[in-house]
Amino acid sequence: MSDSLPEVTPKAKRKVARLDKEALFRLLQYEPTPGQLEVHRSRAQRRVLACGVRWGKSTLAAHEAVAAALAPADRGIGWVVAPTYDLARRVFDAIVAVVTKHLAHRIVALREHEHRLIVRNMGGGVSEIRAKSADSPVSLLGEGLDFVIVDEASRLKAEIWSSYISQRLIDKKGWALLISTPRGKSWFYEMWKRGMGGDRDYQSWNAPTWSNPLLDASVIEAERARLPDRVFLQEYAAQFIENAGSVFRYVRDAATGTLQDPIVGTRYFAGLDLAKTEDYTVLAVLNRQHEVVFVDRFHRLDWGVQIERVRAALGRYNNATVLVDSTGKGEPVYEALPPEPLPGTEYADDTDDGKSDERKSA
Ligand SMILES: Nc1ncnc2c1ncn2[C@@H]1O[C@H](COP(=O)(O)OP(=O)(O)OP(=O)(O)O)[C@@H](O)[C@H]1O
Ligand SMILES: [Mg+2]
Repeated sequence: MSDSLPEVTPKAKRKVARLDKEALFRLLQYEPTPGQLEVHRSRAQRRVLACGVRWGKSTLAAHEAVAAALAPADRGIGWVVAPTYDLARRVFDAIVAVVTKHLAHRIVALREHEHRLIVRNMGGGVSEIRAKSADSPVSLLGEGLDFVIVDEASRLKAEIWSSYISQRLIDKKGWALLISTPRGKSWFYEMWKRGMGGDRDYQSWNAPTWSNPLLDASVIEAERARLPDRVFLQEYAAQFIENAGSVFRYVRDAATGTLQDPIVGTRYFAGLDLAKTEDYTVLAVLNRQHEVVFVDRFHRLDWGVQIERVRAALGRYNNATVLVDSTGKGEPVYEALPPEPLPGTEYADDTDDGKSDERKSA
């Protein structure tokens, strides 16, 4: 089956690969926002994207990876790295979804458990995309890469970039795309600054959530009203401010340190704070030492599609026992959970005059 992408001769390879990116996006039915398009068009070897939540960073990255994997090469290889496998899998799963839907005939192998996708590229060679977790640095040793995408980059330790990832790009003169919301003035900030200065190899962008025309402005304004100023400035206005996380009332942003993948035989506990009106639903998984090992959050509007993500995360963390905030407007959402209930216990929060409604479910 043809996807109307031309197979290219060696002579034409470079030119066609670049020209075809936007044609490819049309084929994939992906219409980048103006902000995303700017990043896709950039030819900088290091692209650093510090943008607000829901700006479209991961979607951009997934499509950039698909385009890179299709570029003509005898053997292409690129990684998607994030603080944990779960986070890296968000971009990887988006890549797999796009390729499966639109380019299934190009799939040579899809090894889900190895976080590995191999496709036939436009030059007739094979290209591979692998998802990698930065909390297992040993897995970051090894091969030379054509490209690397780092999601939630501001959450990675500086040494992961400097001692592991950047080395992988030297042999093949590979490119890097670093995407994140800002988070203090860490190595990610330094990289971003470099792209704002005179370094021709670097290009940076900094855009607030509301520059994404697909988002509902009233939802963002409601968040502005609800959140502490510093948090809103960091998460939505995408400003680099020190210690903004310390005043954030959600676990994701109060959490410091590194998230961790599940360890066999370890018992985990989770808290699920269901979205209220304009809120985010937050899932936080902790180990017995009260360390936050995993955090996920998504907008209530996404609930229907994301419930599986909650269920999958609990399963991965050894069927973590979950406490669900079930009071107020969260209750109908809890009731609307699919017939097969989440393994968990409901509780009433402290606004509920202390009478705890403990209910054990499967
Ligand atoms: N160009 C686009 N066209 C249509 N939908 C888009 C586009 N870009 C992003 N989206 C949608 O907008 C939502 C947010 O996108 P995405 O997850 O890529 O943003 P993000 O910046 O990575 O967000 P987060 O801060 O939550 O990680 C998703 O539901 C995604 O499918
Ligand atoms: Mg994202």
